[in-house]
Amino acid sequence: MKKLVLALSLALQATALVHADPSPVRPEGVPVKDYPWQALPGETNEALERKGDRKRGERLYALCRSCHMASAGGSPDGDIPRLAGQHRSVLIKQMADIRSGVRHNSTMYPFAAVLADPQDLADLAAYLEGLCIQAGNGRYDAADAEQQVTAGRALYDRTCSACHGPSGEGSRHKGYPMLAGQHHRYLLRQMTEIRDGRRSGVNREMVGIIGSYSDDELLAVAAYQSSLELPGKACAAKRPSRKK
Ligand code: HEC
Ligand code: HEC
Repeated sequence: MKKLVLALSLALQATALVHADPSPVRPEGVPVKDYPWQALPGETNEALERKGDRKRGERLYALCRSCHMASAGGSPDGDIPRLAGQHRSVLIKQMADIRSGVRHNSTMYPFAAVLADPQDLADLAAYLEGLCIQAGNGRYDAADAEQQVTAGRALYDRTCSACHGPSGEGSRHKGYPMLAGQHHRYLLRQMTEIRDGRRSGVNREMVGIIGSYSDDELLAVAAYQSSLELPGKACAAKRPSRKK
């Protein structure tokens, strides 16, 4: 119960927190224990071994809804990523990385930090992975969309599809993120941060490959990835009444 109250009060503050500063990095010489978020053990493996309970995950998602939206579709401007349909392996690793500060995200950190243990991560991931993906969410639709998508596809097929899959489906087993249908602005931001070494804990091979990409090439790849759809995972056409 205490957790729920905390969840609700945090959820109320959520919108105000969206544009907060990046998380502080532990200054050299300061003990890890004074920066508890950097001292958490790697929970990823432990959470991956747990069986997730979707119902429990849905309840825990009350903490996340104000930012990631009821549909888990994220925000249309790409500030907040879509989580719906993402592989559980990816969701768990990212939640654990954000909780431990490996991936800096001061906006979300307080919400990730109140999760109790690896079981919470497993439950949330089980719930989110089962949600459908809304079509056309965050697609790149500027006037040059067609050229960008074509150029992006050529780049993507050459170096990225080996891991992220020919249709942007990623890999549940290997923990490669599904990129299909993710907001193009979010993808562009992540790729830029990964290329420029501002997102840590990322697969080294991927960092090496993306290192040579120009800003224009990243934009094209983001346009292409956001245009991809995975038919089996898409939400059904609008129904008259939608659950909140
Ligand atoms: C205050 C807003 C906010 C709240 C509340 C929030 N998040 Fe986030 N979340 C974000 C932002 C912003 C990002 C993207 C950060 C970035 O750009 O690096 C993110 C990223 C993520 C990612 C990484 C996605 C990816 O594709 O790599 C996961 C997973 C995630 N959130 C899960 C959750 C869960 C589960 C909760 C609830 C316990 C939650 N978030 C609550 C703002 C929020
Ligand atoms: C060797 C496998 C591999 C290759 C090749 C690769 N990636 Fe990745 N990529 C990953 C992994 C693993 C992650 C998750 C990073 C993490 O662990 O935090 C990732 C993350 C990403 C993300 C962030 C997704 C999110 O939701 O935050 C984007 C975008 C991305 N890759 C795009 C690309 C592009 C574009 C290329 C080609 C230039 C590429 N990747 C090549 C393995 C790969």
